[in-house]
Amino acid sequence: MAKFFGKVLVIDTNFKFVESIKEEGKLLSDYPCLFAKTLQDGIVFLKQNTLNIRVVFISNKIGSTQGTEEFSKLKEANPNIPLVLLLHNPERVPRDVEENNPGYVNIIRGPKKFSSLTDQIDEMFTSKETWTDIEATKEAKEVELQLVDEGYIPIPIDDFIISDTSFFNVFIKLGPSKFIKILNAGDSFQEGLIQNYSQKGIVNFHIPKEEHKKYIRLCEEMTKKDMRNDKAETKQKLRNVINFGANIAQSLSRTGISQESLDIANTFLNQSVSLMKNMKMKSESLKRFIDTIESREHTATVSFIAGMIANEVGIESLKAIKIVGTAALLHDIGLYESNPDFKEEEPEKWTDEDRKIFNEHQIKGGEILRKCGGFDAVIYQAVENHHMRRRGPDPAYRSNNLNMVTEIIGAADELYNIVISQHADEAKIQQFMKKNLKNFSQEIERAVVKILQKKAAA
Ligand SMILES: [Fe+2]
Ligand SMILES: [Fe+2]
Repeated sequence: MAKFFGKVLVIDTNFKFVESIKEEGKLLSDYPCLFAKTLQDGIVFLKQNTLNIRVVFISNKIGSTQGTEEFSKLKEANPNIPLVLLLHNPERVPRDVEENNPGYVNIIRGPKKFSSLTDQIDEMFTSKETWTDIEATKEAKEVELQLVDEGYIPIPIDDFIISDTSFFNVFIKLGPSKFIKILNAGDSFQEGLIQNYSQKGIVNFHIPKEEHKKYIRLCEEMTKKDMRNDKAETKQKLRNVINFGANIAQSLSRTGISQESLDIANTFLNQSVSLMKNMKMKSESLKRFIDTIESREHTATVSFIAGMIANEVGIESLKAIKIVGTAALLHDIGLYESNPDFKEEEPEKWTDEDRKIFNEHQIKGGEILRKCGGFDAVIYQAVENHHMRRRGPDPAYRSNNLNMVTEIIGAADELYNIVISQHADEAKIQQFMKKNLKNFSQEIERAVVKILQKKAAA
């Protein structure tokens, strides 16, 4: 599946070719396209930041050179958007193209199908990152080290992917800026190591930020392998998918939002959607999986549950479910910007400072995303309003003007914070349905009840 977040711009007048692309519904949902017939129309698209155009295919058939200068300027201002030339039925590259090459990264000769373009996109955007080439870092093992907290990313040890030899340099954290290195990349992973540390009360392993990118790729590979395996149990798949999502969420909140991280998030969303559909097909209920997901990372879990609710309220299109999933993955970005370890599900433990962070996190989250740009408008609204409810005791958190995605994220968030992470018993679940869900619109209430009751039936 595609790992592409953003849009493709095709500037072409070749009717037959453009129409053939428009017929490829499935591929188009993975690689959304915008079409222009002239450079000038293309320029209009390119100027709109919110469209998030990632690559431009431009045909030698567009004829008119009007706008060439402006186009070149735009190209200069956006050096990260690759330009690929489409040569329809050429024998050789026309001389004027050869002479006026505005920086094509590649030339596709005689493209017949959309896949000629998507293969090129995969080639350009698929990470070539591998996790097997990490070398041991210079710190000594088994001695207390003073390190910068932000340079290391925590991974719950119960989820840590083990291999015969460690691919990563692994640390444990003793306190602020205090770490001990327990493994060098290349060391063998001794049996019982995880249990040993777990018994000592260690919850997370830490790996250097630069290695974490590669760790995510390893998670991705594991999940892909599992998803293809018909014999793997849903529980196992769910665990892996959410684990993959959790690592992406950690990277988004600790390293910041980048096209690269959004591309990977997109893969996670594709995988969650196919798993969700699978569960729906088999009528498997959420309850069966609550123990699998209860201690997982907040936003990845909320993203998965939000997708389930979206599906239950009848949102079927992959694009729409992915908007919900992306909004959910980013909904608390304003919290983690202030404190990457913030626990939204434990309000009883919040300090005054935490309360302040909480009160400001919706607006802050919106600001962070708007600064990045390129997201669907619904995503900003959902992040800015995910704690707002149609009804409820607190007027500061009440609004009549909430879109469906916002309510879905809100409901998934409460379901995680109140039911799943709290190991809620049946009585608590009943109370949640009678009290909390009443603050949402009926459609959402019904969908969540259905997800929860299905589980009673399983
Ligand atoms: Fe929140
Ligand atoms: Fe949340």
